[in-house]
Amino acid sequence: MDELVSKKNLNWSELGFKYHKTDYRFRALHKSGKWQEGELITDEAISIHEGAPSIHYAQQCFEGMKAQTAVDGRVLLFRPDLNSERMNSAAPRLLMPQVPKDLFIRAVEETVRANYAWIPPYGSGASLYIRPMLIGVGENLGLNPAQEFEFRVFVSPVGPYYKGAGMAVISLAVSEIDRAAPRGTGSYKVGANYAGGLLATRQAQELGANEALYLDASENRYIDEAGSANILVVMNDGTLVTPKSDAILPSITRRSIMEFAKDQLGMNTQERPIDLRAELSNFQEMAACGTAAVLSPVGKLYFDDQWHSVYGDGSEVGPVMQKVYDTLVGIQKGEVSDGFGWTHEVKI
Ligand code: PLP
Ligand code: COI
Repeated sequence: MDELVSKKNLNWSELGFKYHKTDYRFRALHKSGKWQEGELITDEAISIHEGAPSIHYAQQCFEGMKAQTAVDGRVLLFRPDLNSERMNSAAPRLLMPQVPKDLFIRAVEETVRANYAWIPPYGSGASLYIRPMLIGVGENLGLNPAQEFEFRVFVSPVGPYYKGAGMAVISLAVSEIDRAAPRGTGSYKVGANYAGGLLATRQAQELGANEALYLDASENRYIDEAGSANILVVMNDGTLVTPKSDAILPSITRRSIMEFAKDQLGMNTQERPIDLRAELSNFQEMAACGTAAVLSPVGKLYFDDQWHSVYGDGSEVGPVMQKVYDTLVGIQKGEVSDGFGWTHEVKI
């Protein structure tokens, strides 16, 4: 590591989850059926054709990841191979070329390394958010896939996604509009899902909640997920349950938590449909989880015209979610031994 590279002079612990321009981003184009090698560039603006399918027909997908400064100063990614796999499951669903895993990982590593000065220091509560994206560019008008694609990775130092430092307790309001149809695109990280959810988020916020909670679109009964995070529930018997649904994003954070909860914390775990109204009285603790959300306990829920308390007075963190949060963040920051091999060091 070049010790002479000094960090930017930011107030790291005050950062929100906002775009902050950094020095470099990575770009590779796919032309004539082939990926270019790709390169680091400085221009944050993308110039594309006015007919590009990404801006008309949402032919685009993206990923969300974080680089963290570990307790020993190393720079760690968390399971980047799974982000690569997830992007490569979304790409063919939208008739886009897959991004080879070595290109994906190299692009992420190069962008993180080039922006070393922007990686928040250990203990600041902030991290470097990484946004890989794949978009259809080039000229088009009819409902056809693009002929050319851009794969780009940019980064931004960020603080907590929800207001409040560390583990913020949030509230969710059940949405009256659906996020994803059965057999639709809900399990892919594609921008179209998020555009359709902007109104639901706004409506939830108008009710005083942080985010929307979606129930399944066919019966409006089973929990699917929140606008930007998957859901975990600790039932009264201590079992950690996460919704089974084909319409939700396969969260890397959720899959990791379910694995360490069983193997490391000795918890019973289940992936099954959760009937919100029928099972709420059996909820001991609930949380939303994801790269941006980390683990955010849910204190109360709004549905059927009223607020329902989930845990304590709606602002407290329960003991199980505290333990899950500590283990997750501990692994990601290299404080807890990573027996799973989940952290990936970016050599600076
Ligand atoms: N669900 C949605 C809709 C999301 O946007 C995200 C964020 O990426 C997640 C779940 C959590 O997924 P991950 O843990 O892979 O970040
Ligand atoms: C993430 O957690 O990485 C996401 O992509 C969620 C996004 C809405 C900020």
